[in-house]
Amino acid sequence: MHVMSKVVLSYSGGLDTTVCIPLLREKYGFDEVITVTVDIGQPEDEIRKAEERGRKYADKHYTIDARKEYVELLFKLIKANGEYEGYVLGTALARPLIAEKVVEVARKEKADAIAHGCTGKGNDQLRFENIFYQYGFKVIAPMREMNLTREWEIEYAKQHGIDVPATKEKPYSIDENLWSRSIEGGKLEDPTFIPPEDIWEWTSDPSKAPDEPEIVKIEFERGIPVAINDEEMDGLELIKRLNAIGGKHGIGRTDMIEDRVLGLKSRECYEHPAATILITAHRDLEKLVLSRRELKFKRIVEEEWAELVYYGLTNDPLFEALNAFIDKTQERVTGWVMVKLFKGSVMPVARFSPYSLYKPELTSFDTTAIDQRFAEGFSKFHGLQGRIYKDVMSKLKSDFN
Ligand code: ARG
Repeated sequence: MHVMSKVVLSYSGGLDTTVCIPLLREKYGFDEVITVTVDIGQPEDEIRKAEERGRKYADKHYTIDARKEYVELLFKLIKANGEYEGYVLGTALARPLIAEKVVEVARKEKADAIAHGCTGKGNDQLRFENIFYQYGFKVIAPMREMNLTREWEIEYAKQHGIDVPATKEKPYSIDENLWSRSIEGGKLEDPTFIPPEDIWEWTSDPSKAPDEPEIVKIEFERGIPVAINDEEMDGLELIKRLNAIGGKHGIGRTDMIEDRVLGLKSRECYEHPAATILITAHRDLEKLVLSRRELKFKRIVEEEWAELVYYGLTNDPLFEALNAFIDKTQERVTGWVMVKLFKGSVMPVARFSPYSLYKPELTSFDTTAIDQRFAEGFSKFHGLQGRIYKDVMSKLKSDFN
């Protein structure tokens, strides 16, 4: 006997979550299924398709535009040079935000439970449910509970009058938003298998990228990118533009083995042109303005930051504390960096900041602002213990011979 009647489903419009709609009615006994699609910069036709299908198959559908909020999170990520084992964290960072939006609808609709289409093998279930549980919702995860195969899903969909876009065989699991596109599963599960060129959609084959390099100037204010080539624009537009420019030059492809939270290793392919360009430029600017010790310590903070994001633990108080540290360092990360884009590579070639710690009049071969002779005393102390150690070792050897 089911006492519940209303469920809100986090909805992408894909086969898995679409199959969840009749499942939630038939197998879980809900009277009403409400779908929620959260826009975080996935392709427009994907949003439209989800909206169409949600309206058609569910009792009610919501599309929520969270792009602005996602960009705010991406600004935090840029300041933190966010990256987990080489992965730029696009999906990871978005999940708690999507979950928050789904919760808003569930509360408004006084839903009895929230459902999602994650499997029991990945990270996304953890990232979503952390937020759902925080608000006291019961969670339904049909994909995790029922161990469904693709064939079964297609058959079940057909029986329920759901048109499956199965004409074009989709052999991979894909997730994309403004920051990154991930491709996994299918043949890619064999790590000895070289990904075919057609898995990539955002980036061109670097060997076929333009023969002319392109220099792009990126301006930062307190660690946040604000302009490209002297044209100011909001973050959403700026990231879209860099994805297009970088994609053309074949920038931001990753093929890697990743350690999931559960401990499983997985083979993941990602593309993320804007992320690669922005993090490369941001790191370069930081080298100009941050002290040696800030840079060294910030690396540790960044690693911790990225891990919290990857694990979906951004509600941990540590996350706020790390961001407070990072924001303090970013006060001076204002200026610009020029990067050269060429056949898959992005290389900083010039940089400027009014708050630079680099003083050419001190460093230059051609100036006398600092008397070089002062270094002689420093040098006499430098490495002293190592030199003493050498003597100690000779003594040790002779003592035991
Ligand atoms: N491995 C990445 C992560 O854990 C990407 C996951 C993509 N999610 C998906 N449902 N296909 O964040």
